[in-house]
Amino acid sequence: TKTGTIYEAIGGFDTIDTLVTAFYKRVGNHPKLTPIFPEDLTETARKQRLFLTQFFGGPKWYTEDRGHPMMRRRHLPFEITPERRDAWLACMDAALTETGIEEPYRSAIFEKLTMTAHHMMNTPD
Ligand code: HEM
Repeated sequence: TKTGTIYEAIGGFDTIDTLVTAFYKRVGNHPKLTPIFPEDLTETARKQRLFLTQFFGGPKWYTEDRGHPMMRRRHLPFEITPERRDAWLACMDAALTETGIEEPYRSAIFEKLTMTAHHMMNTPD
């Protein structure tokens, strides 16, 4: 693992694993999000672990498994409204707290995910 990355600083894959589990537990119970997500989130969570590992400076496992990220394009089949973006980010905010990720990493992670979530919107409310 490269040194000086957010991935390494927060504790590597174990921390990503905990974060993603805490996140999808909330997604799976959020009335604004369940209509667009599969009922079984196992595979979704697996891909997200690979993606966030890569996104925060760890090994490029997402690209190895799935190819070029193209995140906006992969989200086009789903109606992502401003409300759903806010719901997604609220789930992530709570998951970051549950995982105990501390500053300055917590804010750095949340800011990067906020920008990406904004980019994912493709439908008005
Ligand atoms: C996949 C929703 C933002 C990363 C998905 C899927 C949905 C979704 C419905 C498909 C799940 C499946 O079929 O397994 C949303 C919503 C967002 C959002 C409502 C609100 C803005 C983001 C952001 C990221 C992200 C900000 C990354 C920083 C991913 C990844 C996948 C995915 C990695 C799996 C893609 C693949 O198939 O390889 N998302 N997403 N999403 N999302 Fe999001």
